[in-house]
Amino acid sequence: MSVTVNAISRADIVSNLYGILDQQKNSLLDLIWEQHHFHEKRRWSALDMIGVIDIENLNEVDKVNLWNAGRAELTTKPGADRLAGLADHECHRWQDRNPMVAKVMQACGTWSRYWNEEESFHEMTLNHLSSLLGLEPVTDETLIEFRKIFPHDDMLRTLVLLAISEITATVNYSWCASVAQDIGLRKLFKQIAADESQHMTYFISFAKALVDSKEYSPKGAFAVAHLFLREGGELYGSNRQQVEQRDSHVNWWDALKYEMVIPDNIERKQGLIFSALRQITGIQVKSATEVEEKWLELVGC
Ligand SMILES: [Fe+2]
Ligand SMILES: [Fe+2]
Repeated sequence: MSVTVNAISRADIVSNLYGILDQQKNSLLDLIWEQHHFHEKRRWSALDMIGVIDIENLNEVDKVNLWNAGRAELTTKPGADRLAGLADHECHRWQDRNPMVAKVMQACGTWSRYWNEEESFHEMTLNHLSSLLGLEPVTDETLIEFRKIFPHDDMLRTLVLLAISEITATVNYSWCASVAQDIGLRKLFKQIAADESQHMTYFISFAKALVDSKEYSPKGAFAVAHLFLREGGELYGSNRQQVEQRDSHVNWWDALKYEMVIPDNIERKQGLIFSALRQITGIQVKSATEVEEKWLELVGC
C-alpha cells in the first residue's frame, strides 16, 4: 500500500495544524501516520554512531561537552512524560467545549511518544560515551533527581517553554559539532542538533494550533518568552548569579556546568525565539524589550 494515502504535507502540519483538523478532510490517524513516517525516516542507530567515534582521540573540550549534554538529556524523559499526561488531561477537558482543541491535544500527546524515544537516543548515546571515556559517572541519586516530573501548567505556556528549551539545545549542540575535531563525534552532535530542531518545529506547530483556535491568548507565549529573555532570565542558564532553587524538578539549563566552554550564543537563541513567537502568534518582535512591552500590552498593563 502506498505511504501517501490521505497524505498531509509536512509543511502544512507545521504551519496549519489547526486548519487541517478544522477542515476535517484528514483524521487524527492520518496525522499520526505522518508523525510516525517522519520519525521513522529520521531514525538512527546509537551503536553505529558510537562505533565510528575515535574515543582515544577526543580532547578535553569534547569530553566536557559530552558529559554536560548527557546529564542535561536525563531531564527529557520527565519532560515527555509530563507532556503526555498534560495532553491527555487537556484533551478530555476540551472534548465537549471545543473538539478541535481536543484533537490538537491528542495529536500532541501522541507525538510525545516519538519525542520521548528520540530523546532516549540522545541520553543513552551521550551517557554511554561518557562512561566509555571514564568521565565522572552519573550516580543513581542524580539520575532519580533529574527524573522528577515537572508540575503541570497551561498547555500553551508549556509548549512555548519546550520550544525554547529545544532552541537552546539546537544552538548548544550545533556549537559542540562546530568545535569537535573527530568526524564521528561531529556527526553525532550534528544529528542531535537536527533532532532538537525538529522537536522545536513540532512544539511551534502545536502552540500555533492552540493560538489559531482562539481559545488561547498569545499572552501565554509572550509571558514564557519574557521569562527566558529578561535580564538574568532562564536563557542565561547556570551562568546566572541567582539560579532558582526548587525541589519539584530539574531544569537542565540550570544544571549545566559552564566553568569550561559552552558559549551562551545568546543572540542566536534570541533570534530563534523571536522567530518562534512570530510563527506561533503572528506578532513580530526584534528585541527582548519589545517582547516585554508586547507581553505587558497583552496582559493589559
Ligand atoms: Fe535531546
Ligand atoms: Fe529535543
